[in-house]
Amino acid sequence: MKVGGKHYRTIWPGEDGTSVEIIDQTRLPHEFVTLRLRTVDDAVRAIQTMQVRGAPLIGATAAYGLWLALRVDASDDSLVRAYQILLASRPTAINLRWALDRVRARVRPLLPSARVQAAFEESGVLCDDDVATCEAIGRNGLKLFKQIATKKGTVEVLTHCNAGWLACVDWGTALAPIYMAHDAGLGVHVWVDETRPRNQGASLTAWELGRHGVPHTVIADNVGGHLMQHGQVDLCIVGTDRTTARGDVCNKIGTYLKALAAHDNRVPFYVALPHSTIDWTIQDGVAEIPIEERPGHELTRITGRDDDGGLTTVQIVPDGTPAANFAFDVTPARLVTGLITERGVCQASEEGLLSLYPERRGKAA
Ligand code: MRU
Repeated sequence: MKVGGKHYRTIWPGEDGTSVEIIDQTRLPHEFVTLRLRTVDDAVRAIQTMQVRGAPLIGATAAYGLWLALRVDASDDSLVRAYQILLASRPTAINLRWALDRVRARVRPLLPSARVQAAFEESGVLCDDDVATCEAIGRNGLKLFKQIATKKGTVEVLTHCNAGWLACVDWGTALAPIYMAHDAGLGVHVWVDETRPRNQGASLTAWELGRHGVPHTVIADNVGGHLMQHGQVDLCIVGTDRTTARGDVCNKIGTYLKALAAHDNRVPFYVALPHSTIDWTIQDGVAEIPIEERPGHELTRITGRDDDGGLTTVQIVPDGTPAANFAFDVTPARLVTGLITERGVCQASEEGLLSLYPERRGKAA
């Protein structure tokens, strides 16, 4: 996607050949700043502090993180150590493990002398694949927009969190069909949930959509149900950080409540995902997906631009108030109208997923 007329991905190899560059997402929407990751610890920190975030981008950063570790020491021990600290950096998005497994599988059989180049190449291919995958998700989701647009003018879509290009390498998952619908000349308007406590909707989704010229309106997280009751939402599309083999989806906290409201109001609720988000080893998302708990200060304090243009952080609760900051929740498959993948749209069920990924049929989890 373009920023200031220049095409950016969210992660790319540094020109010095020894680093990888990212957009520091903690500075958006107020400042566009890029950062250089030079070590595996830089990559871990970027993931943990959410300078990079979003399931596919977390995976891509971890892949390059392995490369950064191997540049210093390409031994078996170093590979094991780097794999483990990267894997532990955030618990919920399965793309992290998927990406690490992919790079490790490529480099482990090689002699240490060949590992650095192989890890670099594999990370690059993984990023290119992610772009192609998200583009295909966009094309498949576009068909839903076309169907709605033929019945009425502007398609009103609600999204939660940020599942746009900033969460991936480019395009995005949930936002890819929105960009394509807008580019195809369909009328689209997006209701953007602010997505407390980190405000990925207000800060990132609104920023992305604004840069691309897609009409949108930020709403407080509690507004969606009201809009659905009043016929102001044609469909919801969200992303997912982990999808179980039976189609339960784990996404940013608050997604479940939107799915309940959509179900009650017969509003289609779609989830857009790449294959790398499917965890074929588990079935029951509520019981089996580890839900990240983040520091309470993300909830009790808020940062924004003050009237003088500077960034300010303020406390918004009484001194000493305890806070619980659960970062994700699980939406059971029964509340999901369909899964939009790079291979097509399917029912949120084991059979639905297997119809698109038949190579998984009969495979042990
Ligand atoms: O905590 P985050 O910002 O990494 O959470 C991101 C989300 O929940 C996204 O909606 C999700 O990764 C979907 S993937 C594009």
